[in-house]
Amino acid sequence: MSKRPIRKAIFPVAGLGTRFLPASKAIPKEMLPILDRPLIQTVVDEAREAGIEHFVFVTGRNKSVIEDHFDRQYELESILRKRGQSASLELLEKDLPAPGQTSFTRQQEPLGLGHAIWCARHLVANEPFAVLLPDMIMMAKPGCLKQLIDVYHESEGGNVLAVEEVAWDRVDRYGVVVPDVWQDNHFSISGMVEKPKRDVAPSNLIISGRYILQPEVFTELSQQSSGAGGEIQITDAMIHLMGKQPFRGVKYVGTTYDCGDKIGLLSASVVHALQHETFGLEFRNALSNIVKKAGGKLTWGGE
Ligand code: UTP
Repeated sequence: MSKRPIRKAIFPVAGLGTRFLPASKAIPKEMLPILDRPLIQTVVDEAREAGIEHFVFVTGRNKSVIEDHFDRQYELESILRKRGQSASLELLEKDLPAPGQTSFTRQQEPLGLGHAIWCARHLVANEPFAVLLPDMIMMAKPGCLKQLIDVYHESEGGNVLAVEEVAWDRVDRYGVVVPDVWQDNHFSISGMVEKPKRDVAPSNLIISGRYILQPEVFTELSQQSSGAGGEIQITDAMIHLMGKQPFRGVKYVGTTYDCGDKIGLLSASVVHALQHETFGLEFRNALSNIVKKAGGKLTWGGE
């Protein structure tokens, strides 16, 4: 099976983000920040750390600020330069992708994650690639995609998915895998099902937002058949590929925050701020004061 290097990554950012309305009405949810970094920047950093050289964004209506975020902002830069704010200038420069490293394509209708990935087929062409869901934030060292790429090179190559264990009452929200033969923290996958009911779920190991896929998945996706929730699902395309190509799950080391969900974003923000090397101490004090004021019991008002 192919072990060609993984050079390109797809970032599907065309969803409606309805769980964050009204915040996501005019601002893409992928631009919501954890402290001062937009979610999309955090996952691009993770891809860069893993050696990705080309970043492909599948955008939609109201998402053009994502394109602006990865471009120069001349007026701002010139004002910062005039004011001598070199630290801010350096920060912007560090995040800027090199010329030609980004591509943007549109998903005209949010028909599902599988459809969004398929929209990038001409930009990826005939090579294996990564997919990173920007609303799944993985706090991990090394980063989650780097851990996947290491397993990809150590094992038979093929398709490699990040998986994690969740509470059984949450399996019906995700794609679930059937683990076969384990080796350290990874295993061959012998089956998958999208959003199974708890009582028929084959395991509580879910596919959690990072994928390494072979280009043949585009052929499966071109069937355009809709699955769970009426959407074109990437899990269904992977199920069709399963007998033909190897699939491996990696129970990566780290913690996932589903930042497409309010509690997930809040939790990630709190954890990140508590650990932050500049603001950590100040935030720990602020949080302790809030808890003290509440009488040490995190309850509020009429609870
Ligand atoms: P989600 O299902 O979490 O995003 O998709 P959503 O549909 O925008 O969110 P809600 O449920 O309405 O709040 C995961 C990622 O896939 C992208 C989303 O932008 C998100 O980053 N996506 C989803 C697409 O690009 N296109 C789609 O058709 C669906």
